[in-house]
Amino acid sequence: MKKIGIVGSGNVATHLVIAFKEKGMDIAGLFSRNHHSAHEICERFSIPYFETIEQFKQVDLIIVCVSDDALANLIPQLAQYAPTATTSGTIDVLQFDHLKDVGVFYPLQSFTTGKNVAFDTIPIFIEASSDAFAQTLKDIGTKLSCEVHFISAKQRQHLHVAAVMVNNFTNHLMTLAADYLKKENIPFEWLQPLILETVDKLSSISPYDAQTGPARRNDQQTIDRHLSLITNEELKQLYIQFTKSRQTTYNHD
Ligand SMILES: NC(=O)c1ccc[n+]([C@@H]2O[C@H](COP(=O)([O-])OP(=O)(O)OC[C@H]3O[C@@H](n4cnc5c(N)ncnc54)[C@H](OP(=O)(O)O)[C@@H]3O)[C@@H](O)[C@H]2O)c1
Repeated sequence: MKKIGIVGSGNVATHLVIAFKEKGMDIAGLFSRNHHSAHEICERFSIPYFETIEQFKQVDLIIVCVSDDALANLIPQLAQYAPTATTSGTIDVLQFDHLKDVGVFYPLQSFTTGKNVAFDTIPIFIEASSDAFAQTLKDIGTKLSCEVHFISAKQRQHLHVAAVMVNNFTNHLMTLAADYLKKENIPFEWLQPLILETVDKLSSISPYDAQTGPARRNDQQTIDRHLSLITNEELKQLYIQFTKSRQTTYNHD
């Protein structure tokens, strides 16, 4: 069984530790610049705490779960000790292909510490500097999930852009909607059935076909009324931009 080392102690590191542990895989140690959260994870899941990165000498694979901007500095340091893969959706790991084994192990999900996820349905995207290392990463991925795919850096980066749109942008819109309703003393929870149905119907209908609302129907009076009800200028501009975009999309119906 491969001995896995983890770098980082944030959302992805925590979820990967949980998933590896659930599958009985061997986590040989965890290192993070954040000693406090690293200690917490190590204690909670009974895994060795690495004080220094030299300790990764004893592992077969390092998975680096740190912020994208830290990777260019960290990957070359870690790769001298063991084959190293990052969980990043955007980094072009082949810029390091002069190093021995570097790769990507990108699980496409929104991970938040404290919120459980079913890892076996999460697609994991693999890329590596050699076929052998890609296969190793695929084998590890297959233990966690039934959806493991090889993908180029370019495709993964496009996927990440789309992931930001469907998850981060949508989530931001919900935050804005929640704030908007709070000012009017209206519970955000009343939108829950609508939010769930919005996502649920995408399993049987394309997002294009699923769209409803005033912009699709060209109900200009409703759009104008909505704009008069929004006082926050930033929110108003977003409403205008989204409405324009939707009108452009459905104009040729
Ligand atoms: N969250 C997701 O949904 C998700 C999904 C797929 C892939 N990813 C990718 O997974 C990676 C980690 O994301 P995350 O959500 O787990 O991030 P996170 O929760 O913010 O955790 C980031 C970790 O990186 C550490 N870190 C930040 N800057 C560092 C630096 N300069 N040197 C060393 N360590 C540093 C942080 O330490 P401190 O606590 O000290 O800041 C923390 O342990 C990213 O590449 C991200 O793109 C994330």
